[in-house]
Amino acid sequence: MMLLTFVVLLTAAVPSALASGTTGTSDSKKLVLGTSADFAPYEFHKVINGKDEIVGFDIAIAKEIAADLGVELVIEDMGFDGLLPALQSGRVDIVISGMTPTEDRKKSIDFSDTYYKSKQVIMVRNEDKDKYPTMAELENEKIGAQKGSIQETIGQKIPGAKLTSLDKISDIVLQLQTKRINAAIVEDTVAAGYLDDMIGLAPAVPDEEQVAAAIGIRKGNTELLNAVNGTLERLKSENKIDQMVTEASQLMADREVKSPNIFEVFWQYKSFYATGVGYTLLLSALGVIFGVIIGLIICMFRMHDMAILRWIGTAYVEVIRGTPMLVQLMIIYYGLSLTFGINFSALQAGIITLSINSGAYLAEIFRAGIQGVDRGQLEAARSLGMDRAAAMRFIILPQAFKAVLPAIGNEFVTIIKESSIISVIGMVDIMYQASVVKNITYQGMNPFLIAAAIYFVLTFILSKLLGRLERKLSASDRR
Ligand code: ARG
Repeated sequence: MMLLTFVVLLTAAVPSALASGTTGTSDSKKLVLGTSADFAPYEFHKVINGKDEIVGFDIAIAKEIAADLGVELVIEDMGFDGLLPALQSGRVDIVISGMTPTEDRKKSIDFSDTYYKSKQVIMVRNEDKDKYPTMAELENEKIGAQKGSIQETIGQKIPGAKLTSLDKISDIVLQLQTKRINAAIVEDTVAAGYLDDMIGLAPAVPDEEQVAAAIGIRKGNTELLNAVNGTLERLKSENKIDQMVTEASQLMADREVKSPNIFEVFWQYKSFYATGVGYTLLLSALGVIFGVIIGLIICMFRMHDMAILRWIGTAYVEVIRGTPMLVQLMIIYYGLSLTFGINFSALQAGIITLSINSGAYLAEIFRAGIQGVDRGQLEAARSLGMDRAAAMRFIILPQAFKAVLPAIGNEFVTIIKESSIISVIGMVDIMYQASVVKNITYQGMNPFLIAAAIYFVLTFILSKLLGRLERKLSASDRR
């Protein structure tokens, strides 16, 4: 509990300014916007003056709302299907993400007036354009749609279709390009941004009806709802929304065509990776520190004279070791927040998960080290007049530490690598940034090769340093 409090206090101070808002809880001076920035021209990533920015007409609208409220806008980019829980739990104040106000969604959140209309279309590879004249051809076909979207619902209703639901639209386009799916259901405005010599539109539309987009607000927050509707009304009367759509569409259209090689990708997005390295190191370092503390405590429990403490220690190790870290992360980040209202930022949840997890492994390593020291050592120390504590401190622990140093080193390397899992909750680490670069460049290989190289360099340096420490310690043995 104390550790937990400490992590929270410590990380509450880490400025979210390092990246475009990954942490952040609702606070009166800020408006936290939740969005899935994969939906050009609504909201998408764009490199502007070498910096990654989230732009689009949804964002332009959000800025107007924040300006009218006189507060600062903070953007949280997440998977589309994470938006409703984020809004309900208070992690974000408002959701603008081209979201259609469906009856189902209205059960859990409120919606503003609608501000934009679009239609559904089928996206296919250009060479397949004539293969899908109507929706009927999608039957028994491999299709794709965004997870949690109304397009997913449409896809689920197509008889026999094998539907792949993914978090980000760009992933769906990649699936289409790599022939893992043969068609995708998307909105026309969004599809327009992807049309090129590879991707085309099938003439058929699954649903001639127009669908609207509206802004999501937590139930009962009428004050904000009224303010949002007020801003929308003003924008509509000034014809600003059309103008914003045009501007966003232009931004979307002027993307670079030539495909850069791996060095160019690295150079162009080096600031992305630099941010990622910062967060990965921060996560791993704090994960290691708290992991060691937890590990020591659990190790003491496991070797204690009191059966109940031994039992707790064993249970801890077995449970943590026996469940995937990804599941633990989901429980800490989403579970605690939705069930108990305990809202950890992505960074806090990441550090807590990493330390809890590595604590279990380290406890075992420590125990093995201590038990590996010959019993005779303790007996000899005691017969020389040392009490238990002194014997531990001067005789047992130094030997144990030396023996398990390689294993500890292993664990540290593992923590650096495993920290990449935290990227799924939007932690801006190396892995996350690699995905962002993938989404911007539409390259599937280079962004991840760069990430792999960076992880390797980090872990390699660490093992060299640990190797040096090991040699130093064993040198003292030979004196
Ligand atoms: N309008 C659709 C829906 O409400 C799709 C919205 C997807 N938005 C996004 N930012 N990816 O389900």
